Amino acid sequence: MTHDTPSVDSALNYAEKRQDRFLEELFDLLRIPSISTLPKYKKDVRRAAKYVAAKMRDLGMHKVKVIKTDGHPLVYGEWLEAPGKPTVLLYGHYDVQPVDPIELWNSDPFEPEVRGDNIYARGAVDDKGQMFGLLQALEALMHTYHGLPVNVRVLIEGEEEAGGESIEAYVREHPHKLQCDVAYIADTGMPAPGVPSIVYGLRGITYTEFEAKGARHDLHSGAFGGVAPNPIHALALVLAGLKGADGHITIPQLYTGLRGVSDQERALWDRSPVDIPALLKQEMGVDTLPGEQDIDPRERLSARPTLEVHGIRGGFVDAGAKTVIPAEAVAKVSLRLPPELHPKDVLPLLQQRVAELCPPGVTITVREIHSGEGVSVPLDSVYIRAAEQALEQEWGRPPVFEREGGSIPIAALFTEILHAPVVLMGSGLPDDNMHAPNEKYHLPNYYHNIRQAIRFLDILGRDPAVLARPTRMSDQASAASNGADAASRNGARAPRPARSAQAKQGK
Ligand code: BES
Ligand code: MN
Ligand code: MN
Repeated sequence: MTHDTPSVDSALNYAEKRQDRFLEELFDLLRIPSISTLPKYKKDVRRAAKYVAAKMRDLGMHKVKVIKTDGHPLVYGEWLEAPGKPTVLLYGHYDVQPVDPIELWNSDPFEPEVRGDNIYARGAVDDKGQMFGLLQALEALMHTYHGLPVNVRVLIEGEEEAGGESIEAYVREHPHKLQCDVAYIADTGMPAPGVPSIVYGLRGITYTEFEAKGARHDLHSGAFGGVAPNPIHALALVLAGLKGADGHITIPQLYTGLRGVSDQERALWDRSPVDIPALLKQEMGVDTLPGEQDIDPRERLSARPTLEVHGIRGGFVDAGAKTVIPAEAVAKVSLRLPPELHPKDVLPLLQQRVAELCPPGVTITVREIHSGEGVSVPLDSVYIRAAEQALEQEWGRPPVFEREGGSIPIAALFTEILHAPVVLMGSGLPDDNMHAPNEKYHLPNYYHNIRQAIRFLDILGRDPAVLARPTRMSDQASAASNGADAASRNGARAPRPARSAQAKQGK
């Protein structure tokens, strides 16, 4: 280390001294109701994008842009002044979920409040707090290193909670503008306070709407009952038929190609100090874990397909009574898919099964609303080693390695299109109420997340194993006639990472 090499402690100190401002700046972002799925918040979503862009400019990023899309804007910025160092793509999202049922919140979802050890606000943990922490880490590094230890591109989206179509289009159209060696995503969790986590798998998703139609119009249930089709009842039959009380989905093809969980993987899970089933029961307030009883709950949560009904609409639900047979009904249904199952294959299977189960007189159309692929991250990479080191330094204990059941559709595309391995290193807690009333973020984790980002980027800038890699692997991968060849030469993962993970896991 030469005398002018800045030390990571200076950046950590910088962040330590500015904790109050770092929190106030996050609060200003949390005050903006950037709900991406509800059209009436479109302007607020845009305002949040501009706020993020302003922060990126202030901290010294170059070419900061709010990028228009067919949906909500993307925010991009870069700092590429570190020749010979790797290029890291930072990703997060500034959009949030709707707040309903609003009456269950103990404080205004868009007036952040610290109570006890937690920041309460919609988006506190998912993902404004985690995403903004990455920017605060960049500020701390920029000011103490007079530059950054690595090259950085930042891409923040405003549509993640609504399916992420625009970022997908952007990444597919402009892969050269996003060239990087590794993508770093802070939008996942850890199993308990003080137990850091590297997530090496996420499920994909197919989100659909079932529209059931019966008679031409609503009917008197006395005048027509006994001969009329009832779309709500048809939906009930179909939904019950798709998945019974045993938790098994009645589409056999979903299970035939499952990779399962290897013994090595299970051993990795067993290193976690957290009793996951007990934690789940406690968090849900139930004393049983429904689902496939012969399968480990940890596997059910992350490596098995699921089918869930999110809502049903139709008929009469006001006060009082109305004797009607409705002409139509709607259900929202999604399937979570382990990475070896692909939405494009699953949708037709679902459509066919629904048609089989649908009773006569009703037609049910199954329309996809959005979908995304799952992710499987090979653990034998220099970037995972660097992340592991950063977490161990920050938390004083090594991370656990987990697969999570949620979805981040862009993560798979970073791998497929940019040939960039992803590092999923987040700081949410199981009781943070993601997507629910009283969402919160553990305040100490806001600062831990900033510090772990500082450490990770610092390590990437000096670790000999990282520096030994040729920079811009995506360049090399696309220049080569065969992506897999280039990837193996460079020690990067091949464009279809799931395969190499499978091999590594000894299946
Ligand atoms: N941050 C979550 C994803 C997540 C949840 C990762 C739990 C790990 C654990 C993300 O914001 C999210 O909610 N994604 C949606 C994606 C969907 C709308 C395509 C999801 O999983 O429902
Ligand atoms: Mn998120
Ligand atoms: Mn979310």
